[in-house]
Amino acid sequence: MAIERVLSGMRPTGNLHLGHYNGVLKNWIKLQHEHECLFFVADWHALTTHYDTPEIIEESVWEMVIDWLAAGVDPANSTIFIQSRVPEHAELHTLLSMITPLSWLERVPTYKDQQEKLASKDLSTYGFLGYPLLQSADILIYKATQVPVGEDQIPHIEFTREIARRFNHIYGKEKGFEEKAEAAIKKLGSKRSALYQEMRNAYQQSGDAEALDSARAMIEEQQGMSMGDKERLLGYLEGGGKMILLEPDYKLTPASKMPGLDGQKMSKSYNNTISMREDVDSVAKKIKTMPTDPARVRRTDVGDPAKCPVWQLHQIYSNQATQDWAQAGCKTAGIGCIECKGPVIEGVLAELKPIQERAAQYAEDPTLVKNIVAEGCEKARKLARETMRDVREVMGLNYS
Ligand code: TRP
Ligand code: SF4
Repeated sequence: MAIERVLSGMRPTGNLHLGHYNGVLKNWIKLQHEHECLFFVADWHALTTHYDTPEIIEESVWEMVIDWLAAGVDPANSTIFIQSRVPEHAELHTLLSMITPLSWLERVPTYKDQQEKLASKDLSTYGFLGYPLLQSADILIYKATQVPVGEDQIPHIEFTREIARRFNHIYGKEKGFEEKAEAAIKKLGSKRSALYQEMRNAYQQSGDAEALDSARAMIEEQQGMSMGDKERLLGYLEGGGKMILLEPDYKLTPASKMPGLDGQKMSKSYNNTISMREDVDSVAKKIKTMPTDPARVRRTDVGDPAKCPVWQLHQIYSNQATQDWAQAGCKTAGIGCIECKGPVIEGVLAELKPIQERAAQYAEDPTLVKNIVAEGCEKARKLARETMRDVREVMGLNYS
């Protein structure tokens, strides 16, 4: 299997809630055990829409990192950093802007959608138009292969692929590329060299996509070969130059099944959330005041769990026995709604307890959190610098 590098970012624009925990964060926590992972706070992206409330960003950055850590994102298994602490993202953004047609940015669907949705804000800014390009820089600078995102972000990843392709097309070839690629083929050893040539021909002469995939896999698996040579071989395979930027794939985050307090998807904009740091009393109060099946006006009225948002939470937080109890009790008016909500309150509190305990530990030790992030920034920066060296070189900026 090819080596994957996973990268994802989150904008620091407020408290994280159970929807984030059960969707994005649980997915990150799983991925960190499977692949190399980089997770970052997209503070510049937050500024594109929250430029007039910098205090929200400043507060949210550290709180969000604490939430990640408390949820189980593990700095030993993933690199946690802040976008603005790796200024190379901005440099790549500027350089990519030179080859980015305005029309590509204008037709990214989130551009008009968000402008309409956030109509109270003036988003006719240069920064907001460039949002997807900044995101491309975030991704391409690490040569990420997999980007876990929600559905709304897919156009941004597709845009990123187009930018990478355009960049490689314009700048892909380094000086003496063919010779260097031929030399790299020899380094594969005679058997693999022959195989490589065969698969390259099959792809270039008859468009054999399977040959392309096998050749790619063979190159990725090759031990003891430099990154540069691997990239030359990958580029040569397709008839291009050394691949400086890599086209990433998106990895659709399994849709969070987390319903909010009103039965709609949990989301800040619906005002139906339970935050990851919600205190015990507030959790209880929010659930106790949740709407239920409107048919149950009196305690003696029977109800239908299918029409009740509380039942959706039972499906997440209750075991089978409790679910059976709620079903039967609701349909026969054997239990009241307050009684029915009891196990849900307990389930949510049980999920939150260890998270909040860990969050409190991190909150008490800001130096620890800052050290984790500083270390992550350092690691990320090293990777970013490598890519920038190549990018500057091919763009004619490597003065010495
Ligand atoms: N735009 C993403 C969001 O709103 C956040 C983000 C910024 C991101 N840069 C990224 C996600 C790079 C993945 C990769 O969710
Ligand atoms: Fe909802 Fe439970 Fe009340 Fe039925 S008994 S309406 S499932 S809260």
